[in-house]
Amino acid sequence: MQRLNGRRVLLGITAGIAAYKAVEVARLLVKDGAEVQVVMTPAAASFIGPLTLQAVTGRPVRDTLFDPQHEAAMGHIELARWADVILVAPATADFLARLAVGMADDLLSTLCLASTVRLLLAPSMNQAMWRNAATRSNVEQLVSRGTTLLGPDDGEQACGDTGPGRMLEPPVIASALCDLLGAGRLTGRRVVLTAGPTREALDPVRFLGNRSSGKMGFALAQALAAQGAEVVLISGPVALPTPGAVRRIDVESAEQMRDAVFTSLPDTAIFISCAAVADFRPCETRAKKIKKTQENLTLELVRNPDILGEVSALPRRPFCVGFAAETEDVAAYAEQKRRAKGLEMIAANQVSASSGIETDDNALLVIWDGGRQALSRQPKTRLAAQLVDLIADRFDAQTATKDS
Ligand code: PMT
Repeated sequence: MQRLNGRRVLLGITAGIAAYKAVEVARLLVKDGAEVQVVMTPAAASFIGPLTLQAVTGRPVRDTLFDPQHEAAMGHIELARWADVILVAPATADFLARLAVGMADDLLSTLCLASTVRLLLAPSMNQAMWRNAATRSNVEQLVSRGTTLLGPDDGEQACGDTGPGRMLEPPVIASALCDLLGAGRLTGRRVVLTAGPTREALDPVRFLGNRSSGKMGFALAQALAAQGAEVVLISGPVALPTPGAVRRIDVESAEQMRDAVFTSLPDTAIFISCAAVADFRPCETRAKKIKKTQENLTLELVRNPDILGEVSALPRRPFCVGFAAETEDVAAYAEQKRRAKGLEMIAANQVSASSGIETDDNALLVIWDGGRQALSRQPKTRLAAQLVDLIADRFDAQTATKDS
């Protein structure tokens, strides 16, 4: 199994003798299914040629902060957002010092500062430099801020000294990264997730729709991927970037969403329906723009397919999680929906001007057979991680019952 399937690793290389080993690190990560983007400090090129790394990763190496050609394609902030994890191997004493004080004077240090993802450093330096009080204090600061240190190893050094400071061997680094990224609660599980609104066309320029922004669903997709799931995100029209390690299928209407869900369903362990699917669509979509010739316009609407209901009615169906957007009697209406659609779980949100739809924050009441839990109001990104934990708990409980 490729444990890093689809994971995006930004591999930073700084100017140390161990830079030649970074080629093997990159090769092992690619072999484990990761997409690897190498970023070198300018001086690292004295130790290892960018062409070698390009050949191994299949991507041109980035090394300049102000490169008009690369900035036009994927700017440095976009690159910082692209990564699921940043690994710097080797990380020299100078680089640790620059990170500790928050410098951003080359592309790699800028990316480390601009990114919010996990940062892993594999130090490499002479033993006296590693033992120096300045390095010790830099390392302490970095670790206290959440940076993970891989190594260093103790042993013979290129300069002839013996002691701590050798970069860990590439298989050890690659396997530490796999353990970190691949050890999620949903590793090896396929999850299909819908998000955002649907648009039901009236004519070539108008549609019926709703205010769903996709924020809740996209946060869930990210949290599921962080737990190692293979995520297929089927999204209505939204203005959000695709989370790392997530396969996204864009659709417009409820019928297109239904088709995409059923095409993606084989081998799916969990189906989560977070989309605000339009319940009705116009009976006909006019081929030409409707003219304003009359005072009143009557639209005839027809029911859209109930995507979640159809999935849940399948004889061999995934674990089904629905959402309920309610303005009153949240718990009662949500439980009614859960039973009517035959769902394992439902996450109910009270929709108001400040919570639920379109907003950055949300609160949920999660209900399952025999239990419920309220998740307090907080940013959707944090809420999604808690909901994914609850889903994994119930999914594990169901799997254990089936197996016993
Ligand atoms: O996108 P955001 O701005 O972040 O807002 C998030 C959200 C409020 C849209 C989300 O958290 C949410 O509640 N989504 C479900 C909204 C909804 O349509 O609820 P419902 O009560 O109408 O539908 C019940 C369930 O059936 C939902 O899981 C829905 O996806 C599903 N459904 C509904 C109709 C339909 N034709 N097909 C469906 O699959």
